[in-house]
Amino acid sequence: MAQLWGGRFTKETDKLVYNFNASISYDQKFYRQDIRGSLAHVRMLAKQGILTEEEMEKIVEGLNGILRDVENGSLPITDEYEDIHSFVEANLIDRIGDIGKKLHTGRSRNDQVALDMKLYVRDEIDEIDGLVYKLLCVIERIMEENVETYMPGFTHLQKAQPVTVAHHFGAYFEMFRRDRSRLSDIRSRMNTCPLGSGALAGTTYPLDRAFVAEQLDFDEPTANSMDSVSDRDYIIELLSALSTIQMHLSRFSEEICIWNSNEYRFVEIDDAYSTGSSIMPQKKNPDIAELVRGKTGRVYGALMQMLTSMKGIPLAYNKDMQEDKELTFDAIDTVKGCLALFTGMIDTMKFCKNVMEQSAKHGFTNATDVADYLVCKGIPFRDAHGITGRMVLDCLKKGCALDDLRMDEFLSFSPVFEKDIYEAISMKTCVERRNTTGAPGPKAMEEEIERNKKYLAEK
Ligand code: ARG
Repeated sequence: MAQLWGGRFTKETDKLVYNFNASISYDQKFYRQDIRGSLAHVRMLAKQGILTEEEMEKIVEGLNGILRDVENGSLPITDEYEDIHSFVEANLIDRIGDIGKKLHTGRSRNDQVALDMKLYVRDEIDEIDGLVYKLLCVIERIMEENVETYMPGFTHLQKAQPVTVAHHFGAYFEMFRRDRSRLSDIRSRMNTCPLGSGALAGTTYPLDRAFVAEQLDFDEPTANSMDSVSDRDYIIELLSALSTIQMHLSRFSEEICIWNSNEYRFVEIDDAYSTGSSIMPQKKNPDIAELVRGKTGRVYGALMQMLTSMKGIPLAYNKDMQEDKELTFDAIDTVKGCLALFTGMIDTMKFCKNVMEQSAKHGFTNATDVADYLVCKGIPFRDAHGITGRMVLDCLKKGCALDDLRMDEFLSFSPVFEKDIYEAISMKTCVERRNTTGAPGPKAMEEEIERNKKYLAEK
């Protein structure tokens, strides 16, 4: 049991207590950030004359050695240490002797762990942002290739109006674009450096907090030392943003499961992203989409846990806060995995364009256009809606589509129908005429794609 304290204790910690308290099994995940923070701290201590240059250099060398050896596998992080901070400090003292004991001058594990977690989360935000960006690039490619791939648009999972694959995917482009903007908001709001806040009340050493903040790429030091060591808002914000990303991925996955079903056959998921059945030889299952949908619950769970853990904690640091790590790490890893796999899955997915188009044709997706046609011929919309409804009923009886009706049948519903009705309600026309900003028409789509490309070019 290697721990950083014990002077005022007369007994060894109970083994079960030690294990219950220890966090090394998961906080070792940010060993890199912990060492990075210590390097900045010790350089500042020397700059302020609190340590000598030689002491600083020895410590820097020792810390870099630990980093190198952990990375190359020669220094395993084991559970004989309470946490990653103890691991680094104990190893430093092992390597450079008593000078290593000066590392923790003017610092507490409270501001240290607050820093480590922020550094870790900030790095992960950047990675997740990159993964969402890659997904957006694939969505954009699919949009460009499918401006004329017709499909039914749904409301209530009932065929509503014809749209295109480009338009449908464009909706997801917007969602994931907003996700990136949420990540970026969180990153800029959290980008203040807690180091130098001590346990809760700062320190009597003449620390230069701004110098440390700058070295670690923060905008500035945190403003209040009690808040510094006990602020976990940014983790809650991150988990909320991650939950939203998962929610989007999950909706998309659900659609892909539906589209990939035997009944729909709108898409075919690539063999590399499908799985089989141990008993039914014919099966090719969309397991990846299902797993992404399923894992969404884990990420929501992390958000709920964090909100609940934080709600009753008095100022400043309390050990409850150690619980900020495991589920947050799990949520981050889950979202990263889901993003990467989902992107690969849609990148390789085939669209069965004919099936989609046929489906859009059969389902009265042009009924609104028949009504709009009647309006153009001077009939009030409410009456046009009624006439078209009766026509749909008639088609249902006959088992045909609206555009299959003969001219005399059209005329039996209204005398204003003319030959141009066929062109007016063809699927091509239905889509092509919808050119209000954000609509599936080719002019509107071209503008949307242009905007998306410009956005992606800015990174
Ligand atoms: N492992 C602790 C955590 O994650 C580090 C801070 C410990 N501070 C303390 N006062 N015991 O929160």
